[in-house]
Amino acid sequence: MISIQEMAVFCKRKGFVYPNSEIYGGLAGFYDYGPLGVELKSNIKREWWKRHVHERDDIVGIDGCIITNAKVWEASGHVSSFQDIFLECKKCHERVRADEYIEEKLKIKAEGIKPEDIDVIVKENNLRCPKCKGEFGNAKPFNLMFKTFVGPGEDYTTYLRPETAQLIFVDFKDVVENARLKLPFGIAQIGRVFRNEISPRNFLFRCREFEQMEIEYFVDPHEKDNCPYLKEFENYKLKVLTDDMQKKNLEEKEMLVKEIIKKELLNPWHIYWLAFEHKFFVDLGVNPEKLRIRQHTKEELAHYSKDCWDLEYRFPFGWKELQGIADREDFDLRQHIKYSKKDLSLYDEKRKKKFVPHVIAEPSLGVDRAFLVFMFEAYNYDKKRENIVLKLHPKLAPIKLGIFPLVNKLEEEACKLYKKLRTRFVCYFDKSGSIGRRYARADESGVPYCITIDFDTAKDKSVTIRDRDTTKQVRVKLEELENVLEKLINKEMEFEKAGKIVYEGE
Ligand code: GAP
Repeated sequence: MISIQEMAVFCKRKGFVYPNSEIYGGLAGFYDYGPLGVELKSNIKREWWKRHVHERDDIVGIDGCIITNAKVWEASGHVSSFQDIFLECKKCHERVRADEYIEEKLKIKAEGIKPEDIDVIVKENNLRCPKCKGEFGNAKPFNLMFKTFVGPGEDYTTYLRPETAQLIFVDFKDVVENARLKLPFGIAQIGRVFRNEISPRNFLFRCREFEQMEIEYFVDPHEKDNCPYLKEFENYKLKVLTDDMQKKNLEEKEMLVKEIIKKELLNPWHIYWLAFEHKFFVDLGVNPEKLRIRQHTKEELAHYSKDCWDLEYRFPFGWKELQGIADREDFDLRQHIKYSKKDLSLYDEKRKKKFVPHVIAEPSLGVDRAFLVFMFEAYNYDKKRENIVLKLHPKLAPIKLGIFPLVNKLEEEACKLYKKLRTRFVCYFDKSGSIGRRYARADESGVPYCITIDFDTAKDKSVTIRDRDTTKQVRVKLEELENVLEKLINKEMEFEKAGKIVYEGE
């Protein structure tokens, strides 16, 4: 696997991601998406929405504001508790996020450690400023929310949202009524969030502006152990690392979902959502060997959650959180009931009384982190071809097709086909350089299929499709082309069955 720095260089070179405002020296933790990046990112979001909202009966979506009444963040606990601890050098005033710095230097888990305990660790281990080796002052908490003002003047202060989740709780009552939701159900949202991270690092992994795809999944607290969808995942395999295993310094262990349930390691709904999210990545091409589920240790648990598990990915800088899935119980709805004095409860027809539903699972995924994972999985250097082949799942590939005339004489014919295909597929036309050069450029951009128009096309009314991953080529009739392409992109047809094989590949 290439390093995160190499990935950042590749993403810039190919127009996936650029450091933000680079001509002015940039701004740490902010990134812009280029022509290929914007397509890949929107494909990831589309696939997620399709899988989590459109293909289910129990989840609906919303799109809430980035800026909202400041009371939302008081009620949610973000004003008082959404903080990280930092250490500041007494000499050069460099600031570092304390837990990450300790983890990096001492190779121990440090998330959730209190400032006073951090001071002890720093002293005992003589930890110094990474920049000038100066002494650190006392560890201090720092709230990660960006402040902003609404209207003229600075009278009304509020915050840019640090998670999309709270808007779901705030709009809860309206959504339930409008969509006539019956428990169990979920509300989903995709949107931008902002966190003033102390040390943004590792490219897209930790930024200050990013996007989240979140679901709050609500259940009746009396029905918490009854997940009707679990059956389809009973024999699904996951690599598991519990709190207890971490305390004993054990490695993750592969288990079937039904074993996990039998051992009561997780609530049935919670494990269902972990498996569902795991499968989302595997179906889109992520190697399950590089995924595991890890339970948060007691010290790590956020203020709102009863139990939390991360879906982790083995990045080049180690196993790290890709997605968090927390059991938030009724914490948020109760807080908003308390602060807004509005009734956000539901009515239990059976028990004839009101109750507050529980969030049994909150699958919360960063779009940018998912983007990074798909890029790492796709990136391959092909020694034979002597070029990079970006093996993105065709559904995620920013551009689905390259259309090439074999020689310039065939430009008009090829261009006609291109104009027809682009009404249905994201594709591009390329006539410059040798066909080999054109294939190499397409490989590096992750284009799964290239179509060549040659001298026989006019005669046999057929074109050649070349498969990015194997370099195999098939001859396909023009009248069948669009349907064949649709099936290939959706992985509903094997490439070898798409037409007559005319080249077996390298
Ligand atoms: N609503 C719960 C919540 O926001 P979180 O674990 O703080 O939980 C959820 O964030 C996900 O958002 C993470 O699993 C990660 O994918 C993404 N994320 C969090 N901080 C990020 C950052 N600074 N840069 C990029 N992605 C981030």
